[in-house]
Amino acid sequence: MSFRQFAFGLTFAFLLPWTALVIYPFFSMRSVAPVAFDEIADGKTGIYHPKTTGRVANGAQVYAANGCYLCHTQLIRPTYAGNDLGRPDWAGLKADEARGDTRRESNVFDYQAEKFAQIGVNRLGPDLSNIGRRVEALYTKESGASPETWLYLHLYNPRGNPERPTSTCPSYRFLFEEKKITGQCPTEALPVEAPEGTCVVPSAEAEALVDYLLAMKRDDALPASMNPAPAKPAEPAPAAAAAAAPQG
Ligand code: HEC
Repeated sequence: MSFRQFAFGLTFAFLLPWTALVIYPFFSMRSVAPVAFDEIADGKTGIYHPKTTGRVANGAQVYAANGCYLCHTQLIRPTYAGNDLGRPDWAGLKADEARGDTRRESNVFDYQAEKFAQIGVNRLGPDLSNIGRRVEALYTKESGASPETWLYLHLYNPRGNPERPTSTCPSYRFLFEEKKITGQCPTEALPVEAPEGTCVVPSAEAEALVDYLLAMKRDDALPASMNPAPAKPAEPAPAAAAAAAPQG
């Protein structure tokens, strides 16, 4: 092999994956055209607007700065790349009270409010694409704690939750402050033990992070053209089915 061939081969071996994995996705996803609902397939018309609520941008920075993405993904994989829809309540809720099965794959619009799509490096902990949903609909149901408090307590001391005594999620206690208080603790104080005369309160960073986590509800209904694995419509209830059956 001549040096020329070697140099050419090396350049090609770098250029091809770089173009395919960096340049092409960058330009194809930089500005995504809006997707419209289809009257026949979706039963409604108009443009799909992904819903985002709360302070997302600041919280995304705290999430990145603390390396949450090292252990948590935010990517419900497409079925051809390993099905995530079967994992209970990661991709949405399996049995949402109002909407039934809301599970779906991730798409480019899910990350639009953020500078970077933090799809994650490893999956040591559960996927967080729909953590806001899970906390609100499942984790706080019995305890009666507010979703914010559930997340603050998890960040403060993951193993403090009696249901998760062996959690390996790190404690982010440095995102909280021990505030000197005379009299009663403020409403945002955590129900945890604190030294005499102090209360544990979330810092501005913890508040932004929890807002961000609660905003993660990436299971809104998509246009059928974007959703290759739509949830099956719920079975009609037996009473409704009986009423619909021909009489006589
Ligand atoms: C060293 C890896 C690691 C890092 C870093 C990490 N986590 Fe975790 N996390 C886990 C593991 C493992 C679990 C599962 C155990 C549990 O439920 O506590 C978990 C669970 C969670 C849960 C509960 C999810 C659920 O549905 O039950 C939340 C919320 C969470 N982590 C948030 C965070 C946030 C926010 C950060 C960054 C500030 C973070 N984690 C950083 C490993 C990690």
